[in-house]
Amino acid sequence: MFPEDRPRRLRRTETIRRMVRETRVFIDDLVYPLFIKEGKSIKEPIGAMPGQFRYSIDMIKEPLREVLDLGIPAVLLFGIPNKKDPLGREAYKKTGIVQKAIKTVKDIAPELAVITDVCMCEYTDHGHCGILTEKGEVSNDDTLEVIARIALSHADAGADIVAPSGMMDGGVGAIRDALDEGGFEHIPIMSYAIKYASAFYGPFREAADSSPAFGDRKGYQMDPANVREALREAVLDIEEGTDFLMVKPAMPYLDVLRVVSDEFDTPIAAYQVSGEYAMIKAAAANGWLDEDSVLMESVLSIKRAGADIIITYFAPKIARLIA
Ligand code: PBG
Repeated sequence: MFPEDRPRRLRRTETIRRMVRETRVFIDDLVYPLFIKEGKSIKEPIGAMPGQFRYSIDMIKEPLREVLDLGIPAVLLFGIPNKKDPLGREAYKKTGIVQKAIKTVKDIAPELAVITDVCMCEYTDHGHCGILTEKGEVSNDDTLEVIARIALSHADAGADIVAPSGMMDGGVGAIRDALDEGGFEHIPIMSYAIKYASAFYGPFREAADSSPAFGDRKGYQMDPANVREALREAVLDIEEGTDFLMVKPAMPYLDVLRVVSDEFDTPIAAYQVSGEYAMIKAAAANGWLDEDSVLMESVLSIKRAGADIIITYFAPKIARLIA
């Protein structure tokens, strides 16, 4: 006999489960990253990211249609230029790949929010996220002027949100000043404030051709061992005027996401990065995991940990599963 004084748990029928769910993922939470490349008629598969492609501008109608039809509110654009140089000059050119892509997206889908990655690593021949000193180290302060120029050129082309991803000290402030002076006071900044020096970016670096030619990014990205430092990074970026905070990668850093979203009242974005995508895809391809269930569980965990916005290569798939 069940003792009378013992409390009973809620009975979990499917309907009750739906009624008492604490966390939900909405299509409105999603951002879809797109890789745009110079050239024509290009839809090039990315090896370690099955189902993801590099598109030339004339080919982005297809993914944009899909995003629009599914009701995904935003895309995040990455550019792959033809020319690279030590100073990353292509990154702020009026006719640069991202600048042209922004205009095309806005022509095709004016209501879609366009977020742009503001960084130099895809544009420098050495693959680092900034200007190098003679010793081959990234010079934080020399880089600020360049990323401010990049952000301004994106806003000028019509970007709705700029997202500096290089983790430079003072980067958010430099971009805020440049945007304000340029008449873009209304354009928000989504800082990759808490970006770990992570091996999970591997497939992205192949996709964007942005691996550092030597060394690594540990000098400017965060040590995976640290969480208190994440709070310090966030405070600095908020003081400099960021409108969003991003934690990246997502799943290996859910504890960080929790702490950051408890601590700050800005919207919090989490980036489920290329390596997280690749792992799920690889296991699913082998029949070791059920892709749909695992990806829904993974984004649910990211939402549960405190993310308001989830940047993910699975965005179209998730949107389809939700719908
Ligand atoms: C830098 C940047 C990177 C990613 C987004 N912006 C790569 C890096 O820091 O090396 C990684 C995203 C991913 O892995 O999906 N421009």
